Amino acid sequence: MKFGTFDDSAREYVITQPDTPLPWINYLGSEAYFGLISNTAGGYSFYKDARLRRLTRYRYNNAPLDMGGRYLYLRDNNTGTYWSPTWMPTRVDLDEYECRHGQGYTIITSQFNGIKSSARYFVPLGESLEIWQVTLTNKSASDADLSLFSAIEFCLWDANDDVTNFQRNYSIGQVEIVDDVIYHKTEYRERRDHFAYFACSEKLAGFETIREDFLGAYRGWDEPCVVETGKSVNTEAHGWQPIGSHHVKIYLKAGESKQIIFILGYQENSKDDKFDPPGSQVINKKSAKKTLEKYLQPAHADKVFEELHEYWTELLGKLQVSTPDEHTNRMVNIWNAYQCMVTFNMSRSASYFESGIGRGMGFRDSNQDLLGFVHMIPERARERILDISATQLKNGGAFHQYQPLTKRGNNDVGSGFNDDPLWLVLGVSAYVKETGDWSILDEEVQYENEAGTECPLYEHLQRAVQYTLERLGPHDLPLIGRADWNDCLNLNCFSDTPGQSFQTTTNKEGKVAESVFIAGLFMLACQEMAGIAKHRGDKVGIEKLTKASAEMEKTVWAAGWDGDWFRRAYDDFGHVLGSKENSEGRIFIEPQGMCVMAGLGVENGNALKALDSVAEHLATPHGIVLQQPAFSQYYLHLGEISSYPPGYKENAGIFCHTNPWVMIAEAVVGRGDKAFDYYQRINPSAREEISELHKCEPYVYAQMIAGKDAATHGEAKNSWLTGTAAWNYVAITQNILGIQPTFDGLQVKPVIPSAWKGFEATRSFRGVRYEISVVREGTGNSVTLEVDGKSIDGTVIPLPNKETKIVKVKAVIR
Ligand code: BGC
Ligand code: NOJ
Repeated sequence: MKFGTFDDSAREYVITQPDTPLPWINYLGSEAYFGLISNTAGGYSFYKDARLRRLTRYRYNNAPLDMGGRYLYLRDNNTGTYWSPTWMPTRVDLDEYECRHGQGYTIITSQFNGIKSSARYFVPLGESLEIWQVTLTNKSASDADLSLFSAIEFCLWDANDDVTNFQRNYSIGQVEIVDDVIYHKTEYRERRDHFAYFACSEKLAGFETIREDFLGAYRGWDEPCVVETGKSVNTEAHGWQPIGSHHVKIYLKAGESKQIIFILGYQENSKDDKFDPPGSQVINKKSAKKTLEKYLQPAHADKVFEELHEYWTELLGKLQVSTPDEHTNRMVNIWNAYQCMVTFNMSRSASYFESGIGRGMGFRDSNQDLLGFVHMIPERARERILDISATQLKNGGAFHQYQPLTKRGNNDVGSGFNDDPLWLVLGVSAYVKETGDWSILDEEVQYENEAGTECPLYEHLQRAVQYTLERLGPHDLPLIGRADWNDCLNLNCFSDTPGQSFQTTTNKEGKVAESVFIAGLFMLACQEMAGIAKHRGDKVGIEKLTKASAEMEKTVWAAGWDGDWFRRAYDDFGHVLGSKENSEGRIFIEPQGMCVMAGLGVENGNALKALDSVAEHLATPHGIVLQQPAFSQYYLHLGEISSYPPGYKENAGIFCHTNPWVMIAEAVVGRGDKAFDYYQRINPSAREEISELHKCEPYVYAQMIAGKDAATHGEAKNSWLTGTAAWNYVAITQNILGIQPTFDGLQVKPVIPSAWKGFEATRSFRGVRYEISVVREGTGNSVTLEVDGKSIDGTVIPLPNKETKIVKVKAVIR
């Protein structure tokens, strides 16, 4: 069953029923001010950091699930009937309902008793504010005497403190109400020099800033007293829970329409100009007032909305494809690219599954996120790379996470995840391939953000490679450390104490447990590094890398190959994992994908064997599970992986991030049908019809789909913020459609399904627009290219001269 439809021409997903299986959300904001918004206007906003600068409250884990948001209430003043035009929180049955999620905006339209309402929520580019553009239309035959109420609940800035430190918080809330604008200024009197404001374009009939006055004692957001009676209390909050609510009276003749704008914004003042007049306790509102004057105008709101739309047209325009498959088209052209930008902005901080108070930016996560957005905003990818690499440790290792506000490594989590540094090599090489900006490798970057430690980024990468080589175990495979990509394979943890973190508890020295996955990743990183070294004329570097990679390959065949698939690891006792010798955890997906991506077994046939084993043991109609058989109990020596009930998360869930590695591997061995089949199994759009089972949004990837051992096989969780976004984008665009940036130019080398007759694509690459047309003339994968009418050797299109803006490419597959 579906709960909506794709409107591809508008680049929107249209939800037609408010009670979706889970809140189906979207993101507002592109640079500093961000918000999450659900299909019934739930969600919250923050400035830069979801934990430290939270503007509005949201209650995770609540019943109903989605509580706290950008709420509106309409009241018919003649009958006293009231409802929420976004359905929540009153849940009054609407006569019509529709939510359109687009890139950076959401429009919720409804009709009830002849009153049509359309609320467009968005954050204009370059501003720290959100606009709610509400249009009310009286569709009935008689005049309507209405009250419109807005409602938000302010968060006292630090979202963690806000939900824990009540003894203090209940006394510190402060607001000002001036000229009908509600200012939230908790802690402004002391060390904060920022405040929030909530304004409305209309003259107010009243306002509310005390939550209990608005709701009434013991009432919830579904039946606020003030809305029920239509009578505002107009009081100023002192402590407790400050809120912002405007009350506007609107008289609409039959057929008449009116637009009302609400603005919620964030403003900083300089420390010496905080108060007006100086010496008082009154907020200096000059800048905020100026902003409001502009943005409360409907025409201006329309203009900045158009700009936002244009911005996305340009970003998405960097790659557009037209294939025989609509799910591929809409994911590549719209939603997957959009999700990549959101994961870039949010990392793993704020979603409906990440509370915004927990994690910093992951070292490995951020490097992988890069792969999916570098072609859209290369400048920001550059900045991100330099930020990440400045947190690298002097020994080549990495802080596992860093804090976005301070950009410093997170000491609480520390380091010792032995895959981490290698992802930096992949991130940097993807950036250079996309941009041709070799200068980044000469950027002087600090280690551990310490002044005086600067050295060229190239050396950072060398140390990253060296880090693995200095940490080899008894079989000469890389030591795993606290974990590799699989954060839950904690082979040195041995935790038997409830509540201990599996990722940071280390009870073993870590000198035995090894990872075959890191071996594969290492070889891939060596190849990328060798490409970089070649361009820099670093002959010694190339030699060293080639030798190290060849030795690692030997080791993998000696200790990491199980006969039909790649093994996963060796534990602290030196026992193998991911082998026929194991009764549980006999085969894992990660090393199959990663090792074949690194080219292992492509020549000797083992790659095919490994991939056939994946198909036989791990593939399900809902995607490929992480391992089999699932762990039936908690194993002290394996850690968090065995903490999950079978079929969920890392214990044999379909951990979607890993699936594209197998798609890429299938493309590497030339099996386009298999690669595409796997792509389609987890493609959210292709799963739209089973939304009741899948539960998460059909327009974005989720981190996990419950595996075949789970009671809820096929049910997705943890949508939006996952490395799945970037890797699927890479798999479909670079490996299946085969449009791949290389150091020397754009490569076109598709490995598409045998039934496809071809496809078209346009790709912007290093300032040139490539218009690509692919035609299948045979059943194989051999590709010949004609560039601007002339055949070329190979599949990499040489870079054209500077004046060329458009290059036409014809690819024939035989
Ligand atoms: C999750 C992992 C995640 C880790 C670190 C675990 O509980 O299962 O997916 O990587 O936490 O945050
Ligand atoms: C989610 C984490 O963000 C990521 O870093 C990790 O690789 C996967 N989980 C697998 O455990």
